[in-house]
Amino acid sequence: MDLSTTYLGFELPHPLMPGSSPLADDLDSVRRLEDAGAAAIVLRSLFEEQIVGDELATYRAHTGAAESHAEAASYLPDPAVFALGTHDYLEQIQKIKAAVKVPVIASLNGTTPESWIEYARLIEQAGADALEINIYELATDPLESGEDVEDRTVAVVAAVREAVKIPIAAKLSPFYSSLSHLAGRIERAGANGLVLFNRFYQPDIDAENLEIEPRLYLSSPVELLLRLRWLAVLSGQFQGSLAVTGGVHNAIDAVKAVMAGAHAVQMVSVLMRRGPETLTRLRADLTRWLEEHGYDSLRQMQGSMSYGRGGDAAAIERSNYMRILQSWRPDDA
Ligand SMILES: Cc1cc2nc3c(=O)[nH]c(=O)nc-3n(C[C@H](O)[C@H](O)[C@H](O)COP(=O)(O)O)c2cc1C
Repeated sequence: MDLSTTYLGFELPHPLMPGSSPLADDLDSVRRLEDAGAAAIVLRSLFEEQIVGDELATYRAHTGAAESHAEAASYLPDPAVFALGTHDYLEQIQKIKAAVKVPVIASLNGTTPESWIEYARLIEQAGADALEINIYELATDPLESGEDVEDRTVAVVAAVREAVKIPIAAKLSPFYSSLSHLAGRIERAGANGLVLFNRFYQPDIDAENLEIEPRLYLSSPVELLLRLRWLAVLSGQFQGSLAVTGGVHNAIDAVKAVMAGAHAVQMVSVLMRRGPETLTRLRADLTRWLEEHGYDSLRQMQGSMSYGRGGDAAAIERSNYMRILQSWRPDDA
């Protein structure tokens, strides 16, 4: 079965790859990912302030966050490794490049335009084949308009585009009033792809002790639905590559994402829960599913359920909304 796909200009044998996470902090785990057939390796984000190294340690000491994601702990590297500083991060890119043949995609999360340019250049010089721009921002300033927030995001993409030649993809959250419009602006600013969507890690409140409880839950397949909707909308509008991240746990999830328009399928939670070897099984399951359903290739399926093929996205959304509300029965409760 031909599972090949093109993502950010790379001809890949299939779309399955680990998403940005500490899975690639450790060379052994990177080799396991490649052995399991990962189509590319995505590194976790380098944070401008190296908060992962410095501030996070302080944060953990104050909040006890270390115990908050016990489920992930078995696949998470030692905190000392998780906390790569800038130098370590760049060195890690070089080491991974030397160790694997697949494309290596770095990820950057900065706060000021200067830092984006500076670190993007360093990342390119270190040998990364592509760069994810991790836009992780909660707009909380009452004086800043939605347009201002979006202008900043577009400016970051444009600045990084100026600074590097490697392909860039913007990893966005779904929380914009007009994602389609923003996606168009991001594309015109020079992004080669979008990664949908970032998850916001939402702290809980410990009501007894009046404390903030930071929690990192691994994802569930329910999270895929929001991604499917926006892949389906954007695949008819955005000319570049689309990657899904969030809620892909098995081959059927990957099938749905590709049908909605994904060129790449990123996974983190399932690989953390079940190990990098899961990629091999998912690829075999994907092949079997396509064979059983009479497809000749993955490309034949790509975008087959996108709204671009079916007409006006807003009208389809409205009719789906009405259908869903009408379809509810008391037995569903
Ligand atoms: C422990 C952990 C660390 C992560 N670190 C990053 C990161 O540094 N940068 C980033 O863009 N996403 C990061 N993510 C988010 C993942 O890349 C991914 O988008 C998210 O987990 C949803 O995908 P999933 O449902 O396959 O887990 C992290 C996720 C986890 C669980």
